[in-house]
Amino acid sequence: MSDPWLILGAGSIGALWGIRLHQAGKTPTLLLRPEALGRYEGLTLSGEGKFCLPAVSAETIVHPISRLLVCCKSHQTLSALSDIAPHLAPNATVVVVQNGMGVAEQLQKKYPQWQLFSGTTTNGAHRSAPFTITPAGRGDTLIGSLTGNFRQAETLAESLSCPGFPVNACSDITEALWQKLAINCAINPLTVRYRCRNGELLSNPAAYRDLQQVCEEFFQLSVALGRESWVENLLDTVTEVACKTAANRSSMLQDVEAGRATEIEAITGYVCGIAADAGIDIPVNQTLYQDIRQLHPATR
Ligand code: PAF
Repeated sequence: MSDPWLILGAGSIGALWGIRLHQAGKTPTLLLRPEALGRYEGLTLSGEGKFCLPAVSAETIVHPISRLLVCCKSHQTLSALSDIAPHLAPNATVVVVQNGMGVAEQLQKKYPQWQLFSGTTTNGAHRSAPFTITPAGRGDTLIGSLTGNFRQAETLAESLSCPGFPVNACSDITEALWQKLAINCAINPLTVRYRCRNGELLSNPAAYRDLQQVCEEFFQLSVALGRESWVENLLDTVTEVACKTAANRSSMLQDVEAGRATEIEAITGYVCGIAADAGIDIPVNQTLYQDIRQLHPATR
């Protein structure tokens, strides 16, 4: 039998996933910082109760970690992993699921010995207090290998899949990540600009104009990169997501409202970097990038 998963990042998605795995009898363990471990008394899921998943901190781990599911925010990942890297087995399996792009590639360069997988989820949840979450709509989760090992991704998807949190393997995870990046690029910064829920981006004429422009710029960049088939009908896709999640506050708006750093670097910042390298002008995204990164010094 394979080793159970350790979950790094007990925010909304990590906690929800952990609870669903625990309910399915897959015995995940939370990996917490020592100060968080001191406060931890179980995870609470609104409407369903408390779940006492085991939790450890890296310092107290006896055996090297062989399977790590990383659900922390993109801007926290590199430093969190450099702290725990000495506790990982040399060929550990590491699955990174978060908004944005770029971090998994950096990890791959820094830790070529790990078996690295990347993932994306449309499951919704928000954290109302530490270790307390509310689910906000069921979605799908895809994972895949950045180096294209589909067989292994299938095995991992099976072990991470559970009722209430289905996971599938994806043969081209870069395409799936690019599609999710497009959605996050359109919805997240604009919900911050207009301080609104996702659905209001469609009913507010100024916000909707911005949404159209962000999508058009993203599409033009995709054309320049030969990725246009990945984001055909982007505005329709974004509109559908905004409709389905109309009542949600985007993760970026939640971060801004809570005074936390945002994922703007791995979302719009990543896209602006790619556009600059390709010599493509994306002024609306550029302005959003500058505006949002001003909001929290730790984002820079
Ligand atoms: O980051 C988020 O909030 C979500 O990925 C999405 C899809 C924009 C829905 O709120």
